[in-house]
Amino acid sequence: MNKCDMRIKIAGVEFENTVMTASGTFGSGKEYGEYVDINEIGAVITKGVSSTPWRGNNTPRIAETYGGILNSVGLQNPGVEEFIEKDIKFLRQFDTKIIVNIVGRTFEEYCEVARRLSSEDIDLVELNISCPNVKEGGVAFGTDPKMIEYITKEVKKNLKHPLIVKLSPNVTDIVEMAKAAVDGGADAISMINTLIGMAIDIHKKRPVLANTIGGLSGPAIKPVALRMVYQVAKAIDIPIIGMGGIMNGEDAIEFILAGATAVAIGTANFANPRATIDVIEGIENYLAENSVDSISEIRGLAIVT
Ligand SMILES: Cc1cc2nc3c(=O)[nH]c(=O)nc-3n(C[C@H](O)[C@H](O)[C@H](O)COP(=O)(O)O)c2cc1C
Repeated sequence: MNKCDMRIKIAGVEFENTVMTASGTFGSGKEYGEYVDINEIGAVITKGVSSTPWRGNNTPRIAETYGGILNSVGLQNPGVEEFIEKDIKFLRQFDTKIIVNIVGRTFEEYCEVARRLSSEDIDLVELNISCPNVKEGGVAFGTDPKMIEYITKEVKKNLKHPLIVKLSPNVTDIVEMAKAAVDGGADAISMINTLIGMAIDIHKKRPVLANTIGGLSGPAIKPVALRMVYQVAKAIDIPIIGMGGIMNGEDAIEFILAGATAVAIGTANFANPRATIDVIEGIENYLAENSVDSISEIRGLAIVT
């Protein structure tokens, strides 16, 4: 059986294959070394990093739900300096692309991280706009098209690398948000981040998460993620990295048929630490069984015009 061509290109960067790790679910890969050869993954999207260290939310921060998990980790991270020193150094040993997810509480904080990363040997930056804007009463940056366009423009001005804008699904019109990112100069879109949810402990009569609400991820959100990728792919021309509940190669193929150029694997890593590799093999098998030479040939084929 001939090997099919899994290579893809996003913003001029060539990836060996179409499968990435979703931010916050794989760290920088150190803990997965026993299960996964990082050289085999198309890209590692690292956990959100801020200009200074963030301590995250109180525990409990994780709750299991049907077909998924709720998390309110609160973007705990050591800050960009330690991240550069430890994580980028670690990842550069491997033949994979490095995408750094950045977070902030103000426009200025995002720009500060972008400036600091600009001199580093990484491939792309992913902008997590699901954070609350502390100067605007905590409204998430990603729920207001004007804020999305502005933050994309400002971060781009401060960044040497191509920029992926990661959309929040907690909006009424996802296409409007994607268009705002395009207007701001985004080089690619990734989607979706987690859906806001909650769980209640009926015995304690209290929310399960210390933070009360959290982000829902895993197979439970896949139909929502797929619908949003489909709608956005119909409306814009820049590449999309699709994610949300992908557990195997077949799920990944659905996202590519819906118009995604690449896919990212998140919660599946917790259930199966080899999930990324299994997805790569699953996609390759599907392409071989369907006599497809290159992954790009099937992108968007399910789009009904
Ligand atoms: C524990 C956890 C931590 C996460 N941390 C981040 C993060 O730091 N930045 C970010 O943009 N998304 C973060 N996400 C969202 C994921 O990258 C992904 O968008 C989402 O979980 C949907 O994909 P999945 O259903 O495959 O997990 C996190 C998700 C989980 C479950």
